[in-house]
Amino acid sequence: MASFSLVLIWVFFLFYIPIQCRLLSYNTKPHHHLLAISRISLPPSPAPEAAAVSPSYNAHDSINNKVSTVFNVLSFGAVGDGVSDETQAFKMAWDTACQTEQQQQEEAIVILVPRSYSFMIQSTIFTGPCKSSNISFQIDGTLMPPDGPDSWPRNITKRQWLVFYRVNGVALLGGGLIDGRGQKWWDLPCKPHKGVNGTTAPGPCDSPVAIRFFMSSNVTVRGIRVMNSPQFHFRFDGCQNVHVESLSIKSPSMSPNTDGIHIENTNNVRIHNSLIANGDDCVSIGAGCYNVDIKNLTCGPSHGISIGSLGMRNSRACVSNITVSDSIIKHSDNGVRIKTWQGGSGAVSGVKFHNIHMDTVRNPIIVDQYYCSTKSCQNQTSAVHVSDIVYSNIKGTYDIRSPAIHFSCSDSVPCTNLTLSEIELLPAKGEFMSNPICWNAYGIMETLSIPPAFCLLDGNPLVMQDRDVDQC
Ligand SMILES: *[C@@H]1O[C@H](CO)[C@@H](O)[C@H](O)[C@H]1NC(C)=O
Ligand SMILES: *[C@@H]1O[C@H](CO)[C@@H](O)[C@H](O)[C@H]1NC(C)=O
Ligand SMILES: *[C@@H]1O[C@H](CO)[C@@H](O)[C@H](O)[C@H]1NC(C)=O
Ligand SMILES: *[C@@H]1O[C@H](CO)[C@@H](O)[C@H](O)[C@H]1NC(C)=O
Ligand SMILES: *[C@@H]1O[C@H](CO)[C@@H](O)[C@H](O)[C@H]1NC(C)=O
Ligand SMILES: *[C@@H]1O[C@H](CO)[C@@H](O)[C@H](O)[C@H]1NC(C)=O
Ligand SMILES: *[C@@H]1O[C@H](CO)[C@@H](O)[C@H](O)[C@H]1NC(C)=O
Ligand SMILES: *[C@@H]1O[C@H](CO)[C@@H](O)[C@H](O)[C@H]1NC(C)=O
Repeated sequence: MASFSLVLIWVFFLFYIPIQCRLLSYNTKPHHHLLAISRISLPPSPAPEAAAVSPSYNAHDSINNKVSTVFNVLSFGAVGDGVSDETQAFKMAWDTACQTEQQQQEEAIVILVPRSYSFMIQSTIFTGPCKSSNISFQIDGTLMPPDGPDSWPRNITKRQWLVFYRVNGVALLGGGLIDGRGQKWWDLPCKPHKGVNGTTAPGPCDSPVAIRFFMSSNVTVRGIRVMNSPQFHFRFDGCQNVHVESLSIKSPSMSPNTDGIHIENTNNVRIHNSLIANGDDCVSIGAGCYNVDIKNLTCGPSHGISIGSLGMRNSRACVSNITVSDSIIKHSDNGVRIKTWQGGSGAVSGVKFHNIHMDTVRNPIIVDQYYCSTKSCQNQTSAVHVSDIVYSNIKGTYDIRSPAIHFSCSDSVPCTNLTLSEIELLPAKGEFMSNPICWNAYGIMETLSIPPAFCLLDGNPLVMQDRDVDQC
């Protein structure tokens, strides 16, 4: 096996380098039309199916004068029948693209996952840094993992499927589909109420995040559809400059822990013009996030948009400058939520929820500083400080099983400077309104809210002035 790989590498170098030289010569012809296909047809892979396909070609957009070098996964031995294991082909395509240098500004290095093909790949880490800072996966076909935990290789972590690690300038684009095949994971007996007679079996319950970007920057995700992830659909951690655009995420409302997009320790994030329906939060914002802009999101059925949970196991969390605007939240357990554990420290500040339409949402506006997933949390004296939160123009209907406005702030560290303006939330059914609930919540109604939040406390709490509050 090892000597076989060596031969592969050798063949690769033998043919790959001359191909790149030819590409360069195509690049210099500005009026050459759209697809200039390299004449070299020897593939760097052993698969006979690939014999007629060249490993890369050069696409030239003569209108915008942009050039891209395209590596089709089929030329690396991928079959695309939805059954074959295509992991090696994808890895080879990635390694080749990653080692390809950009020949000119704005040039894209593209890994093409072609339309009408379906690719099954195992858990894979696409590692950088790469020579180009403009690599994209053009996903026009379908990508999927092995079907369920029994087909997952035992020696590979079950916590993640596709990972991009230390890549600067990477994009997932296209009109294709990523199908996480989550059903068998959701049905594991260790999932809530999936054990015998509706119990929850103890023990580790790892399920893979579909797509994870880790310690990467200048990341774009645009256009693709992602469905049925075993766990979170997207997770960004330790990333900078993330742009999510025109994405569609869909999983059943009963699928456990299937957050749409989870971010943590990540800054300068835009999530725009997307649709998310799933079994947990549409977007969840963890510790260490700042400068996040969420706009024109249609969310639900889901658990809403959440900041948190923060401060678990006495940890420190800082989250600031978050805006959620021009969005719709429907048929969801929560609308806009901030949730923290007792005993944490740090702060959530500078958050704006603006122009949000709620349709039949439980807890449309909620701060919960007593978040506890086990029912056995002790009362503690420290907490993540929640301050400078604006709720403006939030209208629509709520599910009357819960109050429309609920600020449940820490006993020892009150919420401060909450602003409500143009809030109009009516019961989705009937006339009965449940009163807002506030506990230790300081703030103002700029305009009289419906229902009226007279429970907000005026001014600044004394304790806060005396105390050295952790402001991050
Ligand atoms: C990446 O390539 C695309 C396609 O050519 C181009 O539109 C885009 O501007 C490039 N991005 C960067 C940062 O060079
Ligand atoms: C997992 O096991 C398979 C088969 O035993 C082996 O080929 C593969 O290299 C292993 N992978 C890792 C990451 O250890
Ligand atoms: C499940 O419930 C049935 C009927 O109530 C009972 O006979 C059976 O023992 C239960 N099984 C377990 C493992 O608790
Ligand atoms: C991200 O892209 C911008 C502009 O395209 C560039 O200036 C910046 O250096 C890139 N970020 C990193 C971390 O390389
Ligand atoms: C909002 O997003 C939807 C897709 O969810 C899109 O069709 C629509 O054009 C976007 N609206 C604006 C103003 O960009
Ligand atoms: C807040 O974040 C936005 C991006 O969402 C950014 O444009 C703005 O400069 C940030 N504000 C501060 C004070 O950093
Ligand atoms: C914790 O504090 C809350 C609010 O003061 C109170 O309602 C609750 O009973 C306390 N719980 C425990 C376990 O002391
Ligand atoms: C209250 O919060 C708003 C919005 O974040 C901010 O502009 C204002 O300066 C804050 N007021 C005080 C007194 O901190």
